[in-house]
Amino acid sequence: MLVLGIESSCDETGVALYDLDAGLLAHQLHTQMAMHAEYGGVVPELASRDHIRRAIPLTEACLAEAGKTLADLDAIAYTQGPGLGGALLVGASVANALAFGLNIPVVGVHHLEGHLLSPLLAEPRPDFPFVALLVSGGHTQLMAVRGIGDYEILGETLDDAAGEAFDKTAKLLGLTYPGGPMLSRLAEEGDPKRFTLPRPMLHADNLDMSFSGLKTAVLTLAREQEAAGGIDDATRKDICRAFQEAIVDVLVSKSLKALKQSGMKKLVVAGGVGANKQLRAALDAAASRHKLEVFYPPLALCTDNGAMIAFAGAMRLKFAQTAGGFAIKPRWDLASLPAV
Ligand code: KG4
Ligand code: ZN
Repeated sequence: MLVLGIESSCDETGVALYDLDAGLLAHQLHTQMAMHAEYGGVVPELASRDHIRRAIPLTEACLAEAGKTLADLDAIAYTQGPGLGGALLVGASVANALAFGLNIPVVGVHHLEGHLLSPLLAEPRPDFPFVALLVSGGHTQLMAVRGIGDYEILGETLDDAAGEAFDKTAKLLGLTYPGGPMLSRLAEEGDPKRFTLPRPMLHADNLDMSFSGLKTAVLTLAREQEAAGGIDDATRKDICRAFQEAIVDVLVSKSLKALKQSGMKKLVVAGGVGANKQLRAALDAAASRHKLEVFYPPLALCTDNGAMIAFAGAMRLKFAQTAGGFAIKPRWDLASLPAV
């Protein structure tokens, strides 16, 4: 079964072809980062218009990359939500129009389910059950995953998502949008010992997290440094490092706690912040200390992409035989999905 996947929930148009037997055959991505950079954040109307421009050419590029034609498709999967309403409508319209024209099934995929299952696109593949650490720009959750659609939220951020904290902190340090990856690059060259920032809720007796106070702590530190003579490049890198150390510490500690509480031995990391090198290194080190296994998506599939949507759609069609129709759900709770 050959599935075309279309992702258009935010500022990336991703299209991919996933075959149940042959695996991922092609994936194409256009990021709107440069377009939104001059506004300092995503402008929803511009995002929608750009998805319209990109969806069909990326689909054609995917088919060419895989040596396939539209006639070879067996189904189409698209991101149904959560995300920006207008942006979602573009993917939903293209997917449904193509599927109607080709007379094949169409399935609406939950964006976070796409992220959650994306580590199954890498080798070795984790078997169910596992604990998932979902760390994206909009969500930070720890989940017990017992099968496709069987997701129990164990803990989550009470305010900002980890990616959001990276982006907001980057902005207040004067880094250009989207600041997360840039902040993390600067942090790699920073001194981990020079500044220490608070680890919110680290010792709380639950799996919830809170990251909004961290950006305020960074702001206070930056002001102190400014008053003490200004922030040179080295100091900026050291502040970035202190911020990253704090976030990574909390994410690693809460992940270990989730594994312990659930009695599971496998951790799966998904979402944009899963691309963070320091987080990966810290999780790998903790895993080898505690005899646990950690799984990641391929690096290129950590942030938004069409491959995870094609894959999740293929899984739903294969195991649940659910075909959707035309709908978007800008707000959509992952735990409400039916298990298969
Ligand atoms: O999963 P994703 O592509 O989109 C959402 O569904 O939100 O995640 C994007 C988020 C952004 O906040 C971005 O700053 C963050 O992931 N991110 C990173 C890194 N790469 C992307 N954060 C920290 N370190 C990175 N290397
Ligand atoms: Zn995402």
